[in-house]
Amino acid sequence: SKQIYKCIEVTLVEQETVGLIVLNRPEVLNALSEDLMHELVDALRVLDSMQKVGAMIITGKGKAFAAGADIKDLKDKNIADIFMLEFPSKWNDVSKIKKPIIAAVNGYALGGGCEVALMCDIILAGEKAVFGQPEINLGTIPGMGGTQRLIREVGKSSAMEMILTGSRFLDAQEAYQRGLASRVVAGSNDELVKEAISVAAKIALQSRPAVVMAKAAVNSAYELGLHEGVKKEQALFGATFALADQKEGMSAFIEKRQPQFVHT
Ligand code: CAA
Repeated sequence: SKQIYKCIEVTLVEQETVGLIVLNRPEVLNALSEDLMHELVDALRVLDSMQKVGAMIITGKGKAFAAGADIKDLKDKNIADIFMLEFPSKWNDVSKIKKPIIAAVNGYALGGGCEVALMCDIILAGEKAVFGQPEINLGTIPGMGGTQRLIREVGKSSAMEMILTGSRFLDAQEAYQRGLASRVVAGSNDELVKEAISVAAKIALQSRPAVVMAKAAVNSAYELGLHEGVKKEQALFGATFALADQKEGMSAFIEKRQPQFVHT
């Protein structure tokens, strides 16, 4: 298929039910330039709106997932640029995508790279995955959600050590042990991506609206307190009973057959 992007590659796989996005600036370890940011957010929005697509994957070409924001883009920015222009605020749009996103972290996920992974819904860690927030070494701090999201995954003490020293990185095993990654996938990058596709394909077989509601409900645990979160879950649970897919899913169970979801 024809590529309209220059910093990323997008392909549809698994009968076009899974969108695979490869960050494609390997010569700079997939540094997250502003062009890449615009392309990635655009691609995710397009995939989110495509009826056939049920889940997306983000991975990196070469030895990095992404080694952070592009330091060349950032060096000469002034405070007005940061407050008035789209970087870094636009990055948060990744967390507004409704369908699930899997981060297949194949190598360095540093700074903004770690923060992009944290905005995804599932992190699968390749053997060579490395997570860290080295911004302090540059005289700055994480700016794409790292100080807020990392602490929720690894706890305050680890998040502080990572963010304050800039050199405490987590390898794949540690990321898994702490719950940052859902698991470690042994083998090459190709094997990691294959596994990510298999997880995404399973999600894509489920009812799209039920999946979107489940993601929204789980994410409420990030944004709301327990009381409000449980209320939100109950409302979304109730809403699934307005779906044809809920009737189909439960009928299929009782009739001992596979459900045929129609995604409404
Ligand atoms: N921005 C721009 N270019 C980068 C980059 C980045 N974040 N990370 C790596 N590169 C470039 C290097 O400059 C180098 O380019 P040249 O070949 O032209 O010199 C190329 O990628 C390869 O990198 P290295 O030679 O450094 O590779 P290495 O294997 O020796 O080291 C590394 C790997 C430890 C990841 C090292 O590249 C590194 O420390 N990168 C920077 C990591 C970092 O500080 N990230 C935080 C960025 S700030 C941020 O993200 C802000 C935010 O939260 C919003």
